Amino acid sequence: MAIAAIVAGGKGTRMGGDIPKQFMELRGKPVIIYTIEQFLKHDEIENVIVGINPQWHEYTEELVGKFFSGGVHITDGGADRNDTIVNIITYAKEKLSASEDEILLTHDAVRPFVTEKMISDSIAAMEDCDICTTAITATDTMLISSDGITADEFPLRSTMFRVQTPQTFRIGGFIEMLHRVPAEQRSGITDACRLYHINGKAVKLIEGAETNIKLTYPSDFTTAETLVKDFFA
Ligand code: CTP
Repeated sequence: MAIAAIVAGGKGTRMGGDIPKQFMELRGKPVIIYTIEQFLKHDEIENVIVGINPQWHEYTEELVGKFFSGGVHITDGGADRNDTIVNIITYAKEKLSASEDEILLTHDAVRPFVTEKMISDSIAAMEDCDICTTAITATDTMLISSDGITADEFPLRSTMFRVQTPQTFRIGGFIEMLHRVPAEQRSGITDACRLYHINGKAVKLIEGAETNIKLTYPSDFTTAETLVKDFFA
């Protein structure tokens, strides 16, 4: 059995609007509820922990209470994505007595189209790796530009992937990786996979999907409105 860590501590600045994007509704239901449901209904997920901006804690408690009768826990998010994960881990250990070996699937609250297979594949991968991330091949040719004005490099498209979530690892491993990095460098590493990579660990890839979008800009919501009809038909 595993725990789902739904990272929802962001403000959704690029999306704009009156409420953070994770609470915006698709067909009358908040995005974060779709996301939680995908994990909660999976056979191998025992608990879902949501890390939310403290300002929205009470709001989230109420919302979750309306949709679920148990299995969903709320804790405060942190200053960046990894801080939110640390808070979720602390909650898991203190309140759910999670062991160091417990598998944690970290997932963006704003990616409601995660599939059962992505979750199953991520958990299965923990048999032979320290961390795995969902990813898809890049369809566009990618370039690297350090100043956004001229191109520095053109990496081979067949070697380029776009990173999605879930990103999965064991609780104890993540904390160990974090402690191996000097405190002053930690703020620059906001992604769990980068943290493991910096520590020399292999990051395994799990097949994602074009539909596993992260709602970032208003146009993503238009796409999600269409997707939601087929996906949750
Ligand atoms: N996230 C988090 N804690 C933070 C920052 C981000 O848990 N301190 C979460 C977001 O809530 C989101 C996920 O990480 O589910 C991916 O981040 P992103 O899409 O960048 O979300 P925001 O930070 O909310 O968006 P923006 O950068 O536009 O403000």
